[in-house]
Amino acid sequence: MSASRATAFAPASVGNVAIGFDILGFAVDALGDRVTVARRPAPGVTISAITGAAVDLPLEPERNTGGRALLAMSAALALDFGLEMQIEKGIPLGSGLGGSAASAVGAVVAANALLPAACSKLELLKFAMEGEAVASGSLHVDNIAPSLFGGLVLTVGIDHPRVKQIPVPSAVRAVIVHPHMFLSTKQARAILRRSVDLSDFVWQTAHLAGFISGCYTDDLEMIRASFEDVVIEPQRQALIPGFADVRRAAIEAGALGCSISGAGPAMFAWALASCAEAVRTAMQRAFARHAVQIDDWIVEFDSLGARVVASE
Ligand code: HSE
Repeated sequence: MSASRATAFAPASVGNVAIGFDILGFAVDALGDRVTVARRPAPGVTISAITGAAVDLPLEPERNTGGRALLAMSAALALDFGLEMQIEKGIPLGSGLGGSAASAVGAVVAANALLPAACSKLELLKFAMEGEAVASGSLHVDNIAPSLFGGLVLTVGIDHPRVKQIPVPSAVRAVIVHPHMFLSTKQARAILRRSVDLSDFVWQTAHLAGFISGCYTDDLEMIRASFEDVVIEPQRQALIPGFADVRRAAIEAGALGCSISGAGPAMFAWALASCAEAVRTAMQRAFARHAVQIDDWIVEFDSLGARVVASE
């Protein structure tokens, strides 16, 4: 029997992963949003509370990522009952850690537990994408897909998305560093040029192919050689104080690569477990030299993705 109330945890995520703009991302279980959805007699979607790390978010379902995702779900499934949602934000707003995606994913995963016939993850992905579009103004999937499925995820296509979980070599960890500042995804997208130089296109394509093949074949040197975004990062790095120093410090400390997490300002590095602490310390010190306060985490890639953590 379906539940009348369910709470889902949806992890944060790192979008782009340097070389996969809008199509590649990985889940970060160290933080996430908890979304509770309860069944109500009258059809429609309401948001009764938003608490936690970001409270200044719209309660109107149309303007809220979780609300819009539930509206999409309710309309597509012609639900004859209502959905009331509460969001406990664990991911700071405008951090580059997939907060808007996590709320949308948490909402549809919790609501799925209330349905007489549960939807597939691919169906949930499409509803959650509608929600993400509210925050960023575009239908990208690189935060939604890893938050929903877990791990490192490649998504091909928007109307008919195909999702592939990519294996990450077991010795690799991610270092995540979050500067205490707000950066709007819409703004960080608005500054991007609409066209790409042919030479940059070739390098970016080579890097994406090299990175993915390195992941499948446990080829750390291929991952290291491919870990460079020649298109988006050069345009966005000025938005993050100290970016070049932090990146250099991470690489000098042994990181396989270091880049912007999603639209920023968070940054991430991949490093072998044996030097992840040194990379974290190097990134901490570099940000400190720029008087930027941060939070940081070292994480593995074994996330299960969003899941129901309580139901009744
Ligand atoms: N791929 C997106 C971007 C992620 O970089 O704009 C932001 O949520």
